[in-house]
Amino acid sequence: MVSERWSASAVEGLISLPLESLLTRDYEADPALVHERLRARYGPVAPVDVLGVPVWFVLGYDEVLHIMQNARDVWSKRVDHWRAYAEGRVPADWPLLALLRADNSGFHDGERHRGLRGAWIAGLRPFQEPGSEQAQRLERAMVRYCDDLVGVMAEAGPTGRADLATQYGRPFPLLVANHLLGLTIERGEDMVEDQWRLLDGPDSAGAYQRLNAALLELATAKRQRRGDDLPSYMIEAKPDLTDEELARELMMLSGFLDFTGSLICNVILEAITNPRLRESVSVGAIEEVVNRVALANPALANLTFRYARTDVKLGRFTIAAGDPVMLSIAGAHADPRFAGALARDSVRSTRAHLAWGAGPHRCPSQRLAAQMSAIAVRRLLDRFSALKPALPADQLPWRPSPFVRALRSLPVHYELSRSFAGTPRAESAVEPSPPVGGEDGGDGRPRSGLVAFLRRLRRGQ
Ligand code: HEM
Repeated sequence: MVSERWSASAVEGLISLPLESLLTRDYEADPALVHERLRARYGPVAPVDVLGVPVWFVLGYDEVLHIMQNARDVWSKRVDHWRAYAEGRVPADWPLLALLRADNSGFHDGERHRGLRGAWIAGLRPFQEPGSEQAQRLERAMVRYCDDLVGVMAEAGPTGRADLATQYGRPFPLLVANHLLGLTIERGEDMVEDQWRLLDGPDSAGAYQRLNAALLELATAKRQRRGDDLPSYMIEAKPDLTDEELARELMMLSGFLDFTGSLICNVILEAITNPRLRESVSVGAIEEVVNRVALANPALANLTFRYARTDVKLGRFTIAAGDPVMLSIAGAHADPRFAGALARDSVRSTRAHLAWGAGPHRCPSQRLAAQMSAIAVRRLLDRFSALKPALPADQLPWRPSPFVRALRSLPVHYELSRSFAGTPRAESAVEPSPPVGGEDGGDGRPRSGLVAFLRRLRRGQ
């Protein structure tokens, strides 16, 4: 419900319209139904309220693509272009405000954006270049992380029940993050735990502070002593990046890894519930399955806001300068003008989808995120001879979120493959690549803190 602070000044197009709340229980249960209702009522652009704030929700494929491409520079990602915000009408405690005010590449335009984005592209390049030494080392580490996570699950016995979201799909990208960051084992444990707490609590605010401080410290350390890692490559590509700027960029990783964990869970769900997919997985076509799921159930369902710099016609409405739009990737993929043109039974799904964005803000890490998803799912299916959902699909719990379509849990009944006799190797759950500053846990002995954390996750603590 939109608050009085909006209706009191009902002079603008958006707020004078009847606004449907977007984030309802219906939306959590089945966003596709809500998208279709909005599309039928309003067309490709619908006026909605997001947690009490009026927003244009864009569901048309052409419209979403057009805004992402931003050829005429009509759309800004800077929150100060939001008229209601500039006029003080967005409550200071509105839950999404801190995110939209973030001072990082995802929320800048123009030169500043290009500079920071260039650092990301250069920083990720060694890990995404097929055949490079860093990419090969990362791939080997990813396989080990998968085995370690399966090993912790397997401690409960060769058959049993597990939660593949909490125990596998979501922690896996956090372990990969430590490798990318070139963290020492000790610091890696703390950061995995804090990245988890940041999104799921408890003590999300405390976790944010600690992560921020840790990333700042890391940025300073990497500037003094470079390694084969993302922060060092980013500094090399953009030497004028301050430690504070680098820490703010690296802070974005928590969100990106959350999307990756969500995609992994969505692919696992598809692979264990769709017998045709399970077959194709077993013949090694997993990358195709990842693409198909990114298309059918995009992990990043809706994007953070963009703001119109000028009045602009969109769908059946005129968007006034300063109005916010929220692009819905999930809505765009279901647009009959796009979905209707896809051949349902073709062996390869289209790459013309928007799950990785498009235009100047397009995801610079698509290759890595898709590779992480493919490795995680393939290794899981190798390690288990049977994985059966423990809940019917319509009872699976989804996390309420304006942006991510993510399972809260993915309970399964499992049976381990006979060939897998793995037990977790405490020393490998966080492997530095290579350790910077000579710290490897101090005494060179394997550290078991992270494995203990994973065990606590297993017990649902
Ligand atoms: C399944 C996982 C992922 C998905 C679905 C995804 C998707 C996206 C999308 C749609 C955007 C564009 C946002 C917009 O236009 O507003 C984006 C931007 C971005 N992504 Fe990803 N991403 C994923 C994983 C990652 C990972 C693992 C990293 C880093 C290691 C990453 C780094 C970035 C960065 C830095 C941007 C901002 C680019 C810019 O503003 O120029 N992403 N991502």
